[in-house]
Amino acid sequence: MADPTRPTATDSTATDATGADATGAAAPAVSFDRYEDVTAALADPALVPPPAGAGPVGGMAWLRATVARFSAGERHAARRASVEADLAGLDPEALRLAAAAGFEADVRVRAVRVLAQALGLAEPGAVARAVGVVARAYFVERPEDPEADAAVAWLLPRMLPGIPAGAGGVGRAGDTGDVERAANRIGLLVQACDATVTLVEHARRVGGADPVAAALRHDPPVRVMRRRAVRATVVGGVPVVAGTAVLLDVAAAQAGRPDLPPLTFGAAPRLCPGRTHALAIAAGVLHGASGVLPSAEGASAEDASAESVPTEDAPATDDRDPAGLVPAMVEQVLALAATWTGWDGHPATTDGRMYTPHKAVRRVTDHLLDHLAELEARLAGEPTQPDHWHASAATTPADLAPFTPADLDEARSRLTRLARIWSVRLAVLTPEQLDRSPGTGWSFRQLAFHVAESAYYANAVGDLRPHERTTAR
Ligand code: HEM
Repeated sequence: MADPTRPTATDSTATDATGADATGAAAPAVSFDRYEDVTAALADPALVPPPAGAGPVGGMAWLRATVARFSAGERHAARRASVEADLAGLDPEALRLAAAAGFEADVRVRAVRVLAQALGLAEPGAVARAVGVVARAYFVERPEDPEADAAVAWLLPRMLPGIPAGAGGVGRAGDTGDVERAANRIGLLVQACDATVTLVEHARRVGGADPVAAALRHDPPVRVMRRRAVRATVVGGVPVVAGTAVLLDVAAAQAGRPDLPPLTFGAAPRLCPGRTHALAIAAGVLHGASGVLPSAEGASAEDASAESVPTEDAPATDDRDPAGLVPAMVEQVLALAATWTGWDGHPATTDGRMYTPHKAVRRVTDHLLDHLAELEARLAGEPTQPDHWHASAATTPADLAPFTPADLDEARSRLTRLARIWSVRLAVLTPEQLDRSPGTGWSFRQLAFHVAESAYYANAVGDLRPHERTTAR
């Protein structure tokens, strides 16, 4: 596929099934495998996924013609918005934990069942099996698969619980809004089916410290993307005539530019909307509940451990007494924590990370402990310990537990004592030790001002008194 010569619109190197048009006639075909050309093609509105042919409502061909994946222009935008709205309601961390707890050995079924369950669909296991049948015909341009047709018909009325099938409900031909929403839910589940299991398989194959990130970079689940020119265009200086089948070799393109972000999840305007969810499910399957939630950029636990609140730069100091800073901060944290005993179980998100009452207490505690260990080691002339924290990137099952009055009491005793240790330790340091501190790193005065910003974690959860909710959910 890698072709060092510039392709022309009539190159036959890429002619395959995509080179045939809806009538079966051979269409001109061209392939691109250079990063710059592939990204230009993905962004070009003249190049759209091969359009799907129409079919009776509720069948496989109709499904393909109705989902965002094979649509273009305004229809694509509207249908994609419907998928994005569905995905926005799904908490990636909950998906990760559900995937980790999943029992099905067949990862395809597990991934789709987890999503179906999170969407609130009845019979999620049966839905996942039906989606598997649909998936095998989904990327086939002229699907002739009666079993897949039957699976679409079975799934359709089950996609929007609360709207009855039949009279006036999903499946009524004229009811475009609901039918399209239902079709795009099937589309969402089908897209998740094979791609996510392939990601898991490739990650297992690639291995290493961060197998998912490595697979996305070196062994991408989606290697080739197909487009059709709806009008004449030019890609990387190459004229592409209307009707041309275009093959984009993503795997080759990203292999050629290791310095640029991988294209594994596609690119705007069709960037995979399920990438965060896919990474969460893959992490759950691969690493179990004790793993971490990766970011959509594939951030690893190692990246997460570099977390520093609030800034990587040396913290600003002022003339406040460092010994008083940590107790004041802890008082602020405990005042917020006192409002958390009625927490409704919905995590809050700040700076792309999820926070719960238990997690906030854990992070404040660990942050104080981490820098205290650093300070004591440096005072004793000992090396500091290597950083293996998962920090805020991990949300553990314990973080998701209810925050009871007993938990609040324990947090109060724990944090108050930690604050006291900090306070007593800093109070006996000389100005010399505070500002020209032994060992490498920030001065101890700077460390004190830094840890005094740990209220960040508590602020992420916010004031949960019913009339005072301060966090965005
Ligand atoms: C929870 C799992 C997933 C869901 C719900 C999901 C959903 C979707 C949807 C609905 C689209 C169509 C978007 C549009 O047309 O605007 C899409 C596109 C795409 N997805 Fe995903 N996906 C998932 C997993 C994955 C995985 C694991 C990969 C590969 C690593 C992937 C790669 C892609 C790519 C490359 C596209 C763009 C295709 C193109 O431009 O032709 N997806 N995804």
